Amino acid sequence: MDEPTPTQKLQPEDEAPETGTIDRRGFLHKVSTVSAGLTALAVGVPAAGAFVSPALPKKPTDDWIKVADDVALIDVGEPVRVNFVKTDQDAWIETRTLNGVWLFTEDGEKFKAYNAKCTHLGCSYVHDKEKKSFYCPCHRGQFDIKTGKVMDGPPPRPLDELEVEVRESAVYVRYRDFRLGIAERVVS
Ligand code: FES
Repeated sequence: MDEPTPTQKLQPEDEAPETGTIDRRGFLHKVSTVSAGLTALAVGVPAAGAFVSPALPKKPTDDWIKVADDVALIDVGEPVRVNFVKTDQDAWIETRTLNGVWLFTEDGEKFKAYNAKCTHLGCSYVHDKEKKSFYCPCHRGQFDIKTGKVMDGPPPRPLDELEVEVRESAVYVRYRDFRLGIAERVVS
């Protein structure tokens, strides 16, 4: 085998360590490589998570909304409108919309809840005390308070009834929006 030239001369760290020993520079090099890797992992994983998470499947949202703290405070036989702000998250964009429901009870125990948008084109309807019905001023739609059925006007289907639950005296509604202007109830 040829003798190494002066420029090829073996450096101490290139020499094979004796069995069971490691030189100081090699040890420090390994330690710094491992710690650099751990640091990159610690910084990189959360950063990657922040970047990717909006693209991951969304968690199911809890769309039950508390609309009354105490059933005892709700008038019997008189519908009451409750407004609330609903927050939706779409990727990085958060949107807030003002929504509402109409609550109605005949006995203070069982409740009806209707989405507050008219099923025709989405206008807000009101309680017509004289006619004892709901009235939509946009195109004179009229609905029965007890059932939500269309009594008059162009709405293509009854009011959109929502699920209601009473939990420890508070009233919760599972809020949903539906496509407007069609006879079928389709969640939008
Ligand atoms: S939006 Fe209510 S009747 Fe047209």
